[in-house]
Amino acid sequence: MRERVERINLSIRKISEKAAEKDDIVRFDIGQPSFGTPEHVKKAAEQGLENKQGYSPMLGLPRLREAIADEENGKNGFGPEGKFLEKEHVMVTTGGMGALYSIFTARLGSEDKAVFNDPCWGPYKMISEVAGNRWSQVKFWNKDRELREEAKKEIAEAEMVVVNTPGNPTGYTLTREQAKEIGEVADENDTFLVSDEVYHRLVYGVEHYSPAEFSCDSAIIGSASKNHAMTGWRIGWIIDKERNIEQYAKVSRASTACPPRISQYAAIEALENDFHVQEMREKYEERRDLLVNRMKQLDWESVAPEGAIYAFPEVEEDSWEFCMGMIDEGVAMVPGEPMGPESDQKVRICFGSTTKEEINRAFDIIEDNI
Ligand SMILES: Cc1ncc(COP(=O)(O)O)c(C=O)c1O
Repeated sequence: MRERVERINLSIRKISEKAAEKDDIVRFDIGQPSFGTPEHVKKAAEQGLENKQGYSPMLGLPRLREAIADEENGKNGFGPEGKFLEKEHVMVTTGGMGALYSIFTARLGSEDKAVFNDPCWGPYKMISEVAGNRWSQVKFWNKDRELREEAKKEIAEAEMVVVNTPGNPTGYTLTREQAKEIGEVADENDTFLVSDEVYHRLVYGVEHYSPAEFSCDSAIIGSASKNHAMTGWRIGWIIDKERNIEQYAKVSRASTACPPRISQYAAIEALENDFHVQEMREKYEERRDLLVNRMKQLDWESVAPEGAIYAFPEVEEDSWEFCMGMIDEGVAMVPGEPMGPESDQKVRICFGSTTKEEINRAFDIIEDNI
């Protein structure tokens, strides 16, 4: 067995395993929408079943690639020339995870380094460990939303920088100035920029900006999982130049051959008729507002999430002890410790997976137990 793989610690599993043992518990730990996949999307999959279920083209069904290009064209541009995207710039993958894995594996050798924000979504590190490249983690932004000098240095030295906006675990969403600054820093230093935008439709009172707009050498990661409540369908994508897509396709071919055909029929419907996104977004925003209020009442220090489905408050004690103890009381949250060296007293709360009633019930319990 490879040592790097053996060393990977799936510590967060402890939380879900302990939480699953309890009947009456609020599951803030689950990072996925509480909503089921929209009915019209499921219907499209049902109709899709009438087709022969063979392999799909390696890069995905052409109509889905077109729908993805259309959606991405609705953003603020790609590359400094504000390139108009076509299906040739799109590869459909098995989830955003498959997209990231293809990029890391295709691009980074064992001596190459990827740099992540502190805190970051834990699986970036795991993908690096499996792909076999080096990685580092540094806090990107200061309180004034400027890129820290230390971060600029790390980005300059790395082969790849991963930016995630709106972000997991914080809900932090880049302003246009921030997107521009980090895009330009990556560009000036010939560091490949990966912009993970799997939550880009879920923003609250702010606009989404892509740092890929400001970098000549960059890729965007997208996914149907969170924006369309389709986590189990495993559809994601990469946007990049056609010649790079050809290289990522080799990894995809070597690992999964192609994304699942039936899920692609569903994703076409989700992207072409996407009214459900706004309905869910409004519900998330209400939950976010409630959560921010309840955190304020506890005097928990936290930046109000501007996007995604998470908040990341400071609880002023060891994040593991806090989370394990709260599961016994009936609230499951994810410890911040694995997400970065500065996060060992923070916890991730997913408001996407819970109703407002559950948020209130959980915070009543937390209030009684801290
Ligand atoms: C920041 C981030 N990127 C990528 C992914 C992967 O999403 P998918 O379910 O499409 O693989 C997730 C899922 O939680 C995520 O939070």
